[in-house]
Amino acid sequence: MFIDEMAHFVRERIPERVVHARGAGAFGFFEVTHDITKYCKAKVFEFIGKRTPVAVRFSTTTGESGTSDVVRDPRGFAVKFYTEEGNWDIAGNNTPIFFIRDPILFPSLSHAQKRNPQTHRKDPNMLWDFLSLRPETLHEVTHLFSDKGIPDGFRHMNGYSNHAFKLVNCRGEVVYAKFNYQTNQGEKTLSKEAVKKLAATNPDYAIKDLEEAISRGDFPSWTLSIQVMTLEQAKKLPYNPFDITKVWYHEEFPEIPVGKFTLNRNPVNYFAEVEQIAFSPHNLVPGIEPSPDKILHGRMFAYADAQRYRLGVNFTQIPVNAPKCMAANVERDGLMAMGDNQGNAPNYYPNSFGGPQDKREFVETPFCIYGDVDRHNDSKEDNVSQVRRFYREELTEDERQRLCENIAESLCQAQLFIQKRAVKNFTEVHPDYGYRVMAELDKLGAAKQEQAPQVPQEHQAPILQKVNLH
Ligand code: HEM
Repeated sequence: MFIDEMAHFVRERIPERVVHARGAGAFGFFEVTHDITKYCKAKVFEFIGKRTPVAVRFSTTTGESGTSDVVRDPRGFAVKFYTEEGNWDIAGNNTPIFFIRDPILFPSLSHAQKRNPQTHRKDPNMLWDFLSLRPETLHEVTHLFSDKGIPDGFRHMNGYSNHAFKLVNCRGEVVYAKFNYQTNQGEKTLSKEAVKKLAATNPDYAIKDLEEAISRGDFPSWTLSIQVMTLEQAKKLPYNPFDITKVWYHEEFPEIPVGKFTLNRNPVNYFAEVEQIAFSPHNLVPGIEPSPDKILHGRMFAYADAQRYRLGVNFTQIPVNAPKCMAANVERDGLMAMGDNQGNAPNYYPNSFGGPQDKREFVETPFCIYGDVDRHNDSKEDNVSQVRRFYREELTEDERQRLCENIAESLCQAQLFIQKRAVKNFTEVHPDYGYRVMAELDKLGAAKQEQAPQVPQEHQAPILQKVNLH
């Protein structure tokens, strides 16, 4: 008995998620409130009033499992719909845009935000070096360092698929759509003072808040909507609609309500139901297909691969991941095969005995591709127009000021030449943005870093004048 217990004990840790390691989960249902069958044939949207069970996991992105909830970090907001056609996942975030548009940069983006390989400490030099060398990060950085960067728990934040997907109706007609979910608890963020206090007294703040709300019957809910773009509109848009660093503006692509999901059950066992849950953007159902978004394509490979490593080759058979409908494929055996291993069903395709078959409804709609395929550096595309609008028109004067203070507090810890390069990028968004960040850096005495290396001429920020915002 001693050996059994000890042997199990020393093996009880599995690898945590390489990103989004820290999180909380809950369960509930999605209910259709509006008819979108003219856009999408997925059975989950079949009729108003239809209910589908869901699992949701909220997370921070860069910290390890044992870190804090009250950090400036994008929040993950992943929803699994256990539909009768298989599992459909939206692994979204609480910001509508993302840092990069080329998936090969994802490991570098993550490394720059995580720990320095030498010191094992978070390193503002690494972070701002990467961010300032890749100006396409400006939009997400501006959201992240604004008040929105530290939401008040998980219940008071919105979620966004970020990516466009293709929706297909029962006539085979296609539109592009993004999924957004708006909190019905009201959006709330934490002030700097609240963060300081909570970091010291209650770093599990968000996990506790979610669990307690559900336990007392105060079930949180979100309204799911779509923004729709026709194929014609996509061709004419002045920017790439599949560039995930950009939003689709609501005045052009209004939100169309779809339904509501409500969380009404806490996990009974965290490890079984939350640590082992596996979301992936490639879990799609007939009627919902990938768009040409390159980040989406990168993600469609990465998640299941990470989960095979983290949970084992048969992770889809773990109860929280298993579809609630019958699955038929040719995957068999392997470590930890659970259940009946698909019994005596054929394990080859094609077959004549009721095993996996070609099903028309599961075949993706055709699409046309033309043009040259080449690896190119996409950092020179328009990285500033939408950020300028966010800065000027969506933030209030106070919010702009807090944004620049937040940036300066982090950026002042980077070397001078990196600070200057970052200020130059903010100035390109708007001279007022660059000016304010620089003014805040000056207040913090950041420019006094005498040991900083000489800055190459091209990285020198222009001498800034305070400018009129409008
Ligand atoms: C090329 C870009 C990206 C790559 C390669 C990537 C990769 C990954 C990987 C490997 C995981 C861990 C999966 C697991 O072990 O279960 C993960 C988790 C996650 N990612 Fe990404 N990611 C990317 C971009 C994004 C974007 C744009 C979003 C949001 C729109 C996002 C949202 C999430 C969420 C919410 C989780 C946690 C899911 C959970 O709660 O289990 N990721 N990502």
